[in-house]
Amino acid sequence: MQKPGFSLLGILMILVIGSATIVSGQSDDEMCVPMGTIVLEPPESVEAKRSAVEFPHSTHFILDCKNCHHEWKGDEVIQTCSTSGCHDVTESPIKTGKGAVDPNQAILYYKTAYHNMCIGCHKEMRRINKELELSYKKLDKELPRTGPTGCIQCHPKE
Ligand code: HEC
Ligand code: HEC
Ligand code: HEC
Repeated sequence: MQKPGFSLLGILMILVIGSATIVSGQSDDEMCVPMGTIVLEPPESVEAKRSAVEFPHSTHFILDCKNCHHEWKGDEVIQTCSTSGCHDVTESPIKTGKGAVDPNQAILYYKTAYHNMCIGCHKEMRRINKELELSYKKLDKELPRTGPTGCIQCHPKE
């Protein structure tokens, strides 16, 4: 899984950097890819209960971009998660009684979307690593690193 990720990244970076230098000055199909850390915060209307999340974006470039940017076709500018109609619901559907049991509704709530995606992948990778560890197979390389699953690892106490 890791190797194809790397080569895809290589191709993408060339595309991104290439188009940025060649068509600089045009804004329509130019995309700036944030490197380093992106600070993820709740939408403005929400009073945060937890500290903001420092998300190491480029650390995740070992993965296919489409793991997260799942609506991206590859030839247009990437939209934010809170684009209208995507994950822009600011209140828990359980609280408001809307779609508490309907996963298609629940995922519109930004917090559910982030938690499912972020924690979901880190947990799944741990599960796979654990399975390998317990399989008694001879491993030819180290198990891949995974990400945090505990609350304060992502939302450190302020
Ligand atoms: C592990 C998940 C994940 C992966 C993998 C990932 N990204 Fe992101 N990316 C994010 C998140 C989360 C944001 C912040 C989105 C927001 O602010 O709504 C973001 C933001 C962006 C933005 C800025 C969007 C905007 O308008 O603010 C761009 C461009 C982007 N990513 C490009 C890429 C590219 C290209 C790749 C692959 C090389 C990639 N991302 C891989 C999660 C990811
Ligand atoms: C598809 C899988 C996947 C998704 C989705 C994902 N991650 Fe990760 N995350 C990883 C992997 C793999 C690593 C380990 C990368 C490494 O250290 O090389 C990681 C590492 C991290 C780390 C630790 C980085 C470090 O330097 O130790 C943080 C923090 C993190 N992720 C936060 C997030 C957040 C926040 C989101 C959601 C916006 C997210 N991740 C979504 C796979 C994922
Ligand atoms: C892998 C990283 C990650 C882990 C682990 C995680 N969260 Fe989050 N959480 C996020 C992201 C990303 C958001 C969306 C951005 C934001 O609102 O700060 C979020 C949003 C929230 C919000 C809504 C915003 C707010 O501050 O009120 C709450 C509450 C929350 N998380 C609580 C928790 C609790 C409790 C746990 C442990 C059970 C937890 N989180 C574990 C990444 C994580």
